[in-house]
Amino acid sequence: MLIFNRQTDLKAHLASLRQHKSVGFVPTMGALHSGHLSLLSESLQHNEVTVISIFVNPTQFNNAEDLAKYPRTIDEDVAKIKTLNPSVIIFAPTVDDMYGGQTVSEHFDFDGLENQMEGRFRPGHFDGVGTIVKRLFDIVQPDNAYFGEKDFQQLQIVKKLVSKYNIPVNVVGCPIHREANGLAMSSRNERLSPELREEAAFIYQTLLQAKKEFTSESIEALKQNAEKAFRKHPDFELEYFEIADEATLEPATEKEAGKSYRAFTAVFAGKIRLIDTVALN
Ligand code: PAJ
Repeated sequence: MLIFNRQTDLKAHLASLRQHKSVGFVPTMGALHSGHLSLLSESLQHNEVTVISIFVNPTQFNNAEDLAKYPRTIDEDVAKIKTLNPSVIIFAPTVDDMYGGQTVSEHFDFDGLENQMEGRFRPGHFDGVGTIVKRLFDIVQPDNAYFGEKDFQQLQIVKKLVSKYNIPVNVVGCPIHREANGLAMSSRNERLSPELREEAAFIYQTLLQAKKEFTSESIEALKQNAEKAFRKHPDFELEYFEIADEATLEPATEKEAGKSYRAFTAVFAGKIRLIDTVALN
């Protein structure tokens, strides 16, 4: 199993492989669960070489406590990857290797995608994501890169990044993996008590309810119904429940023919922030 901790070593290794083989890439922050592993399986199926990065990127955290408490489980992560397929190449750099002592973001214009939802509530988050993904793409130079629809806004932003900067990477979106009760898998779920983890199933149920009511109800009514459902779970604090155009991510007020819509939500369970989304039509 190959594990690289320095970008120069990984680059040198991939340079020899790339000439003959397609490279698939799965960027992660570790604490791997089966959602991450599904992205890896997708890459393994469609590429001759698969690289995963495990790097808790400091510049995308707007909350110091969230960064400090983010689970770091490299040994377990390596074991999970090895069980799935030992040919996967792991890139686990240090902060210093990625940022060279300057842990700051570049500033990006993603044509407004960055101003909605997560961007509104996590200032600077997408500058951090853009900075690290651009650097990782530059190091790995993948043919295909795999991102989860769990972070749908991030997926759209990465597609925008590659088109704006002419980065020759095919960005592939992959479906959300869920726990048995429907809760979207997330590294942060580890920090929930067993009771909250069970109760958190209502988040997905609320999204599904909006999907069910989508054709019969107005956007305003859908949002109000969802907000009402959240009020029944006082252990959870709703940050936003938004219905937005899938392409522009702009909040919808009315349904327009020919457009695709999605519901997006962010919720606090104590200090733990959870997000989820479903396609509505
Ligand atoms: P992380 O949260 O570790 O997620 C890595 C990838 O796994 C992302 O593309 C995310 O959307 C996907 N993912 C997470 N949970 C999933 C689930 N339940 N089902 C399917 N896919 C899921 O997203 C990041 O890291 C970072 O922002 C990163 C892109 C690595 C940049 O630092």
